[in-house]
Amino acid sequence: MCGIIGYIGDKPVSKILINGLKRMEYRGYDSAGISILQDNKIYTIKKKGKVAELEKMVNHEVFHSNYGIAHTRWATHGYPNDINAHPHLDNSGDISIVHNGIIENYSVLKTKLLSDGYSFKSETDTEVLAVFIGSIYEKIKDIETSIRLALREVDGTFGLLVLSKREPEKLIAARRGSPLLLGVGNGEYLVASDASAVIQYTKQVIYLNDNEICTISHDGYSIKTIENEDTEPIIEEIEFDLEHIEKGGFDHFMLKEIFEQPDTIHDAFRGRLLVDEGNVKLGGLNAVIEQLRNTDRIIITACGTSWHSGLVAEYLIESLAGVSVEVEYASEFRYRNPIINKNDIVFAISQSGETADTLAAIKEAKQKGAIVLGIVNVVGSSIARETDAGVYIHAGPEIGVASTKAFTSQLTVFTLIALLIGRMRNLSKWEGQKIAKEITLIPDKIRYILEQKDKIKEIANIYSKVRNFLYLGRGYNFPVALEGALKLKEISYIHAEGYPAAEMKHGPIALIDENMPVVIIATKDEIYDKVFSNIEEVKARKGKIIAIANVGDEKICEVADHVIYIPETLPVLTPLLSVIPLQLLAYYVALDLNCDIDKPRNLAKSVTVE
Ligand code: M6R
Repeated sequence: MCGIIGYIGDKPVSKILINGLKRMEYRGYDSAGISILQDNKIYTIKKKGKVAELEKMVNHEVFHSNYGIAHTRWATHGYPNDINAHPHLDNSGDISIVHNGIIENYSVLKTKLLSDGYSFKSETDTEVLAVFIGSIYEKIKDIETSIRLALREVDGTFGLLVLSKREPEKLIAARRGSPLLLGVGNGEYLVASDASAVIQYTKQVIYLNDNEICTISHDGYSIKTIENEDTEPIIEEIEFDLEHIEKGGFDHFMLKEIFEQPDTIHDAFRGRLLVDEGNVKLGGLNAVIEQLRNTDRIIITACGTSWHSGLVAEYLIESLAGVSVEVEYASEFRYRNPIINKNDIVFAISQSGETADTLAAIKEAKQKGAIVLGIVNVVGSSIARETDAGVYIHAGPEIGVASTKAFTSQLTVFTLIALLIGRMRNLSKWEGQKIAKEITLIPDKIRYILEQKDKIKEIANIYSKVRNFLYLGRGYNFPVALEGALKLKEISYIHAEGYPAAEMKHGPIALIDENMPVVIIATKDEIYDKVFSNIEEVKARKGKIIAIANVGDEKICEVADHVIYIPETLPVLTPLLSVIPLQLLAYYVALDLNCDIDKPRNLAKSVTVE
């Protein structure tokens, strides 16, 4: 969603800010803006639309200043337009702020400020905060204290960056519930909401904690709490390199990330899988190993694609570990008064580690006394820090808004967790070895599927103009059907629904005619014959069948219009393979429709509002 970048150092600032905004474009936004303090004047330029538009306007000015702030906005309060874009100024025009998050009590604050004679240009909650800070500054003439006092009155979330003409050569950042980090370079500092925006300049970062305020000047930085207490900041190193956030010869990040999966899956199990012992070692779970051994119930909570991987995990953990699992949308969990029993363990899954609904669910579960474990990609993210323990999936930065490699890495990690718990309970060493060995073969099996990209592209081109798709799967492949449908609708805007194949006859079958493509995952497992019958039901109604089947399955050609073959594997590992053609199918449909694949309309990479 929104992105923040700020710089203070020895280089001309405008280029660095625009660069930082471009690095965060993948997060999703609708407008962008910049404030630069130069010759005792704040220059604020902001524009609805792409960063490239803003860049053209910024390039018309001559900036020699070496500090400033910038923002990409994803509208929450007020339309996406030039006025509502950030930065926002206080009434004196001397204080400029950019803000991620939501000020929940903005309307109460606004009413009070209006009655005190202050005025507003935009519809945003952020301008209210700017004016509020300015109103306090008028009385106490100290910017840091004004921000601190204002933030104590604020309900909601913020990642905040402030520039003030009254106290130049200084930036002030603050965080509560919306990520912000300080990049510590050589004679320069960057503040950003996303590590991708600073990595070109430094890998040394300090992740701000909730309720911390950081004041940065050319000479250094200090971090205190909103209550003005000292803190002990820890400098950490960003784990990825610049090349990881560039396209590396692919047309889109999504395609690059699909093709990275043999490696990212390998990274997810490398050093963790003990093939000879048929077991797993997961350092991040050592602290809760006894609780995992003895748990009676696991609750998994997540959103979107991460929720789909939770559904696969339900099948995995119940079958390998014999523990009952419930999977719940994080947004529902929070507001449902969920029952948490003494030995329950909650897993929260999130690629970004910043999803507001998932964070809220974690807080709810913790409040009820549960142990909460995180399955997260982004190191140092809020969810990684809020959870009691957990496992990083190590997929590297995922830039495409449509999640692909994070999904398969999450599945890999959950397979390891299911094995770990299973081996502590009833799963035999022999069974463990068989699964562990098969996991090591998955990357090559994915390479085999990726080689069929041209064939999948041909199929995509045949169906790219239809308006509806149906995706069917059973067992482990039911969540994969949901994921395939989500991928297609996200990036191609074609309506798609995923269903358990057997549920089709209870409703969706009414939709089927010669115009309806039905993607069916029909891999060789114990329910293959049942799925085959579902295919025949579609065929009888003239639906077009795109089957995902195992290599060597000739019978399926008799009924399917198209077959994409994937190698055989153990049923528990099938989703790791069956999802790959669905990702490619969605990609090539969207490509044929000329859609903005990496930045689909209305979507944000990390959804930091509830
Ligand atoms: O970062 P998270 O995994 O918490 O994000 C959850 C969803 O917002 C995310 O999976 C979303 O559905 C993706 N755009 C799916 O491609």
